[in-house]
Amino acid sequence: MEGKRRIKVKVLLGLKTSSEEILVKGWVRTKRGSKNAVFIAVNDGSTIHNIQVVVSPELFSEELLKRITTGASIEVKGLWVASLGTGQTKELQAKTLRVLGDANPDTYPLQPKRHSLEFLREIAHLRPRTNTMGAILRIRHAVAFAIHEFFNDKGFFYFNSPLLTSSDAEGAGEIFKVTTLNLEKTPLDEAGKVNYQEDFFEKETNLTVSGQLEGELAALALSEVYTFGPTFRAENSNTTRHLAEFWMVEPEMAFYDLKDNMDLAEEMLKYLVKYTLDHCQDDLTFLEKREIEEQKNKPIAERNEQPLLDRLRFILANNFERISYTEAFDILRNSKPNKKKKFHFLIDSWGTDLQSEHERFLVEKYFKKPIIIHDYPKDIKSFYMRLNDDQKTVGAMDVLFPGIGEIIGGSQREERLDVLIERMEEKQISAAEMDWFLDTRRFGTVEHSGFGLGFERMILFLTGMSNIRDVIPFPRTPGNCEY
Ligand code: 4AD
Ligand code: MG
Repeated sequence: MEGKRRIKVKVLLGLKTSSEEILVKGWVRTKRGSKNAVFIAVNDGSTIHNIQVVVSPELFSEELLKRITTGASIEVKGLWVASLGTGQTKELQAKTLRVLGDANPDTYPLQPKRHSLEFLREIAHLRPRTNTMGAILRIRHAVAFAIHEFFNDKGFFYFNSPLLTSSDAEGAGEIFKVTTLNLEKTPLDEAGKVNYQEDFFEKETNLTVSGQLEGELAALALSEVYTFGPTFRAENSNTTRHLAEFWMVEPEMAFYDLKDNMDLAEEMLKYLVKYTLDHCQDDLTFLEKREIEEQKNKPIAERNEQPLLDRLRFILANNFERISYTEAFDILRNSKPNKKKKFHFLIDSWGTDLQSEHERFLVEKYFKKPIIIHDYPKDIKSFYMRLNDDQKTVGAMDVLFPGIGEIIGGSQREERLDVLIERMEEKQISAAEMDWFLDTRRFGTVEHSGFGLGFERMILFLTGMSNIRDVIPFPRTPGNCEY
């Protein structure tokens, strides 16, 4: 079909009827028809919508029409005409038709029916061809784009922190080691320990759990930066909110205090929600319907009270509630589920970490909107968070979203060298190994802050999906690293 440029389905759907021939390529979603006309729904991934191709069977061989099955790729040249049927206003009347790649219906796993999300996870290599995954992948793209746009418009610089690193940013020890050593025959030193001197980097190395520490180096030079890249955590938590490989957005800002940090986080989250509402209407509408269908099988207590689009608009219309850990603690201690011992972990002594059941109570039952909890006890937070004057709490902040829980974690950073060193000692973090980090506090240190947004948790919220494995193309979880 030389001489014709392919038109994407999304563009074609916006065009008026025309007497000019049009070329479309895509994958067959469904085929139905009679002796007089065959209707093929074709999708090329540019939009959730298909175009209807109408074929007069007498123009083509029976053998060719037989090869047009769900999943086959085809090329159609024809006229874009008004449709007589219902369900679409225009359709492509095929003049020429070619099968580019067959999809044997006896072995092609995707059929034109609703497949369970669990089944689709098992064939994640074909998932992008489903309406649901297609919508999610387009939204992922839009949100990634919006993140760059948001920060670029504010004069932030996109900064690339390393993925291979010798530091453990969170000090939590949930790291994947990286090595080229022969694991069957690891070289040992005199003390009988693995001799990393013989390893590729001549020291212990791992995949990054966060780009924050390197982000701080950049913020103390460029003022406002952000990272956006994959992070890796070997947490053995098989939940619907955790991945071993996930993407994080980490802005880091010089001259920002904790309040500035919270303001930025709220503004960014609202920007991303608005961007998605403005740019992904069709996909969101599809996902909203999908969720309503799915919820019919769930007990009423587990269903969302508001449909997806309303939930997103709700975020834009309301300020996030900001409360200190101590206020949250008091609310929780005096709450019904705590008094009636309904919580799995009871709240009785100040300083204990909040579990997701507590976070969900605060967000979904008590405030019924996003909340930011700030100023946590220092013992349950990372070494780099700024110690408050009370000597008990640090300038931390977590943003909690309905249905998701923690979506952002961040803090004002400890910029005072002596205090930071003391905090590292408390947490048994080697100051010698972190000497490069301490240099920022030795030379031209300033007040600064930052946070990390879990990209997949954001996508979960925006799409109404309930399992984080369904919003990333290739989920990595304990025991699972296919492809
Ligand atoms: O709260 P976290 O651990 O914070 C940090 O890593 C800081 N260094 C960020 C910073 O201040 N620059 O992680 C940040 C966010 C969480 O709020 C959550 O949304 C997401 O990252 N996250 C995960 N998402 C998916 N799977 C996991 N295993 C996640 N762990 C954290
Ligand atoms: Mg956190």
